[in-house]
Amino acid sequence: MLSPDADIIKEIEEQRPRRPVGLLSKREKDTLIERALVGLYRWYVARSQATRNWNPDKSFNWRALRTDHSPEVNKLIEGFYAVEQFVPDYTSKQVMLTRKSHGRAYFHLRWGSEEQKHSDMWLNALLFLRHRTLGWIKEYTHALRQIEYELPWDDALHMLFYAIVQERATQLNYLNTAVIARGGSEKPELKGDADPILEQAAVTIARDEVAHYSFFLEIARVYLYYYPARALEAMMDVLKNFAMPALDILPNGAEFYELVHRTGVYGTRIFARDVMQVLFEQLSVTGRKAVEEGVRRSRQVPDENGVLRDTAVFGALDYKAVEDAVKRLFGKIKTYEQETGLADVDPTSFVASGYAAT
Ligand SMILES: [Fe+2]
Ligand SMILES: [Fe+2]
Repeated sequence: MLSPDADIIKEIEEQRPRRPVGLLSKREKDTLIERALVGLYRWYVARSQATRNWNPDKSFNWRALRTDHSPEVNKLIEGFYAVEQFVPDYTSKQVMLTRKSHGRAYFHLRWGSEEQKHSDMWLNALLFLRHRTLGWIKEYTHALRQIEYELPWDDALHMLFYAIVQERATQLNYLNTAVIARGGSEKPELKGDADPILEQAAVTIARDEVAHYSFFLEIARVYLYYYPARALEAMMDVLKNFAMPALDILPNGAEFYELVHRTGVYGTRIFARDVMQVLFEQLSVTGRKAVEEGVRRSRQVPDENGVLRDTAVFGALDYKAVEDAVKRLFGKIKTYEQETGLADVDPTSFVASGYAAT
């Protein structure tokens, strides 16, 4: 039997595809992620305009806000106002970080415009509480405005996971404040804080935070689907290092941190149970230990195309559930594009990653 010519073998080897047949290239995956971002962003804006178009001045009967709240509630509102002051920083910095992405950069602008209402709404609450003098509020605002917030991560993927965790944590802060404002707190010192205007304010903002959380969560699933190893790694980095935004730079940050714990508004147990555990469930992730093990294994797999790295994390997540969720998202975008006519000119379609979703 003749042995094949060495040149032919070399040529065949050179032409061998660098990734298994059926898997998408990086460029194809990035294009699909961007399609999902733009489609979801469009859907989001329409929904936001239709269902959450509230105004910080006119949507609340501020004159009816109580002026005899407990010191804890007064301080909570001062803290929320401070935390919501950094909209110009995180909006502008994330817009620039993601400016090449139509969907992500425009979403950040939209997101910032909604967060800016939160800041103005808490200012109104602070003014109408009448607990502080006008001079004090102006001084406080001035001092806060001198502080610039820096992004905790310098890449868009880590910032995506940071935003998810931060939006969920913020939402819980406001929902637990709404419980106090409903007179439902178990803390004796907060039993007399029932106030329908404050409740309305906290619930209105919490609804925005849910919408922000859901946007970022959907996009995280898309990353998890097309880049499982990178996404899980970024998620664990963020979870391990997460701290509520801006607490370290606020003049009263330590005091506010202690206050949210003491009032049951937020804390480490809430983070573990209502942030981390919920996030794992919603992303179809098995659990912290499994993810850490998967990430560790994926780091040990040398593969220039990332394929084996990605499959090394499959024990840490229900990949079929992730695929189903991403298909649902593309379905939602398709329905929106059919409604608006965009489907006639530039339709978005789901394309499988090629990884076996068993
Ligand atoms: Fe907010
Ligand atoms: Fe938010």
